[in-house]
Amino acid sequence: MIQLERIQRRYVTDEVETTALADIDLTIEAGEFLAIMGPSGCGKSTLLNTLGTVDRPSAGRYLFGDRDLATLDEKELAQFRGQTLGFVFQSFNLIDELTIEENVALGLAYRKNGGERRARVAGAMDKVGIAHRGRHFPHQLSGGQQQRAAIARAIVGDPRLILADEPTGNLDTENGQQVMNILAGLNAEGATIIMVTHSPSHADMAKRRIDMLDGRIVASAAHAI
Ligand SMILES: Nc1ncnc2c1ncn2[C@@H]1O[C@H](COP(=O)(O)OP(=O)(O)O)[C@@H](O)[C@H]1O
Ligand SMILES: [Mg+2]
Repeated sequence: MIQLERIQRRYVTDEVETTALADIDLTIEAGEFLAIMGPSGCGKSTLLNTLGTVDRPSAGRYLFGDRDLATLDEKELAQFRGQTLGFVFQSFNLIDELTIEENVALGLAYRKNGGERRARVAGAMDKVGIAHRGRHFPHQLSGGQQQRAAIARAIVGDPRLILADEPTGNLDTENGQQVMNILAGLNAEGATIIMVTHSPSHADMAKRRIDMLDGRIVASAAHAI
């Protein structure tokens, strides 16, 4: 599904040049559940943002299926993201002024009509166990519920690929486990998942794990499931 070839990402500021991604070669098959680990600053988020096309590589090639994503303009990339990707973040990133169901609906492309929108939103909330929270606002929910709402927003459009950056980083053990069970369930239903985590036990729930250091992949291991 995905092929990264010699991907580099350099950040240049006035004083310093940082190499966030040095030379990444990575192939990801449809149906994988990949965990990315490594110390703070090693490039995990940059890699995930590059995979999500919200960050452009400085060099290298990103193939998605048989498409070279460098050939897409901003509008085409936005369309690609909307149809194909779902994002989950450590800090949930829900909009405080919107209800949970309005937040979840943000994950849908505009083309859906009212009836289908409502059905999709209800289905996604049901799937993550927050069906009865639609009219609440984010601050009225626990952290675990907020992250499940964020997952509902990510999956409401039926994305093929889910990108999660430390999705359990702000959660206690029990809520973190719930989020992991939801991700594992989505993967079992066919979604490809790429997840950054600091938790070895959560990485063990993935099918494969890569370790990064200084912008490079330094180890890769498949888990026996
Ligand atoms: N927008 C940016 N401008 C300059 N440097 C950045 C920017 N984003 C990330 N970096 C640098 O790139 C490196 C990798 O960052 P990041 O991908 O966020 O690491 P991780 O997610 O593994 O903690 C770090 O050295 C970080 O300081
Ligand atoms: Mg990060």
